[in-house]
Amino acid sequence: MEVIKVENLYKQYRLGQVTTGSIAHDFNRWWQTVRGKEDPYEKITGLNNREDSGSNDYVWALQDINFSVKQGEVLGIIGRNGAGKSTLLKILSKVTSPTKGNIKIKGRIASLLEVGTGFHPELTGRENIFLNGAILGMTKSEIRSKFDEIVAFSGVEKYIDTPVKRYSSGMYVRLAFAVAAHLEPEILIVDEVLAVGDAEFQKKCLGKMKDVSGEGRTVLFVSHNMAAVKSLCTKGILLQNGKVIIEGAIDSVVKKYYGGERDSFNYRLCNYEVDGFHLYSVGVKNSNKAFDDEIIRDREIIIEFNYKLEKDINGLYFNIKLKDEEGSFILTTLSLGEINIDIDSNCIKMVIPAGFFNEGTFNLDLLVIQKNENGYKSYIQEPDFLSFDVLPEERPLGTWMGKELGFLRHTFEWKKLLK
Ligand SMILES: Nc1ncnc2c1ncn2[C@@H]1O[C@H](COP(=O)(O)OP(=O)(O)OP(=O)(O)O)[C@@H](O)[C@H]1O
Ligand SMILES: [Mg+2]
Repeated sequence: MEVIKVENLYKQYRLGQVTTGSIAHDFNRWWQTVRGKEDPYEKITGLNNREDSGSNDYVWALQDINFSVKQGEVLGIIGRNGAGKSTLLKILSKVTSPTKGNIKIKGRIASLLEVGTGFHPELTGRENIFLNGAILGMTKSEIRSKFDEIVAFSGVEKYIDTPVKRYSSGMYVRLAFAVAAHLEPEILIVDEVLAVGDAEFQKKCLGKMKDVSGEGRTVLFVSHNMAAVKSLCTKGILLQNGKVIIEGAIDSVVKKYYGGERDSFNYRLCNYEVDGFHLYSVGVKNSNKAFDDEIIRDREIIIEFNYKLEKDINGLYFNIKLKDEEGSFILTTLSLGEINIDIDSNCIKMVIPAGFFNEGTFNLDLLVIQKNENGYKSYIQEPDFLSFDVLPEERPLGTWMGKELGFLRHTFEWKKLLK
């Protein structure tokens, strides 16, 4: 039985604005619509593409989206930052309305969208549980019967009578997830929020979502964590610039996500500007080689950042995370920090010693943050920013089935002692 059906769905935003942004435009839109004409602001064909800082202010966050979900299916929705995933979940949760198109939904939905939706900040944890239950159409006694389980799952017992505005973002998400998953929704919608909790809680959430789907309920799950997506979901949708690129079995969708831009994906031009910091490109290659040469394991590998600064910036950190093809994390490294990059520089390199990596495919998450008096400020946060293959020059001794296993190879120090 189909429980969600989405047909020719479009969503347009004017950048930085909720309405068209000007009274004249809004009036024009209203006037055209009243006259039965097409909305003039829908004709602008600005693609949803972060890197194309095109001249028009309108962006299609979603374009011509069509899919359906059957009862009990667990659908993973994946795609790069800005692909339109959250917009789609917001429309399905009725937090925002589509520009045009149809959606049909059968059943009660509980959604866990970005932190900030769903809970009332002034109310306590306890009050919010009852409020959310009521919104889902449950009676007080039904909610009461679930209450202890929700609180236990969330692990925030001590703060249950504190207004949620005093919660940390981790506590907030814990409680919000517990509520959404325990109030027996027919459709559970979860957007990324797991990223906030610690590893143990993430595991618990994934387990709970599995249980929920095991009970025949439908789950829609957005995440950048491909390992989680693959373990939870059966079907997937890949969004790119607001369009569905592929829909189908989750394994093939994840493969497409990683493989889609393989042409020289070890080098990427970009155009970020934050506070006078412009990042123009990031690439991975062997030292003294070009970006389109193969990356050989037994030579020094560098990750190169090209940028421009309008002023000196202190305390800038480049955080790099590497993942395998399944999306499991292999390595995290944090750079710079105490070294200030100054206005006269325009390139930095991270150097990986020859032979450190084994052969394999690596996916790189990039995070650029600045540490200041108030904590951290995030400049850039891009999961799966790059992907690169490391190849062996020749296969050395000790190979297993013709391939060396594991991602890292390193010769450690061995000490001979007499004890
Ligand atoms: N309220 C808004 N006003 C204007 N533009 C918006 C708004 N919300 C989203 N957009 C734009 O719509 C596009 C899709 O955004 P969306 O948040 O759905 O992406 P996403 O796939 O969830 O990305 P992420 O992985 O970063 O969460 C982006 O270009 C974004 O800038
Ligand atoms: Mg999002």
